[in-house]
Amino acid sequence: MKDLLRRHAILKDEVVSALNKQVKIEAQSSNHYLALAAWCHVRGYDNSSEFFYKQSKEERKHQLKIFKYLNDMESEAKTPGVDESEFEFSTLREVFEKALDMEVSVTESIHDLVRVCRKADDIQTEEFLRWFVKEQIEEEYVARQALELFEILGEDKLALAMFEERILEIEYDG
Ligand code: FEO
Repeated sequence: MKDLLRRHAILKDEVVSALNKQVKIEAQSSNHYLALAAWCHVRGYDNSSEFFYKQSKEERKHQLKIFKYLNDMESEAKTPGVDESEFEFSTLREVFEKALDMEVSVTESIHDLVRVCRKADDIQTEEFLRWFVKEQIEEEYVARQALELFEILGEDKLALAMFEERILEIEYDG
């Protein structure tokens, strides 16, 4: 009976491995966002800092969502080690460029993960990942909108103050 239960629950090895890889990517991304939040926090960009703290929490949620899915499917999730996030920025705009860069990279990894599921004919996991595909559309949109604000406002002192006023108002309503 136990074997029967397992046979119906277990994921293919390549899917487990790809999901664990994504758990690590989300954890690293959460860490990176904390570093961006810290850069903004100590320079007095409080709303930008808040924006990145929130993003960091989002990434942690993504990490846990995949982590729990693995365990729900009887495949023990691995707790990932993450590297220290060391970045050097000269301007607030560079920080937001990094954020967009990170999101584009996460989108690529999610799409790769979907491809692994398709190859493995794992319809359940592909369906589970649909939420992440949509989430990435939103996260890239928000990061792009933030960068567009720099295009509109510029980067002088007044512009940065206006940026700070608007950064927490960006919303995706797609
Ligand atoms: Fe979990 Fe921002 O991607």
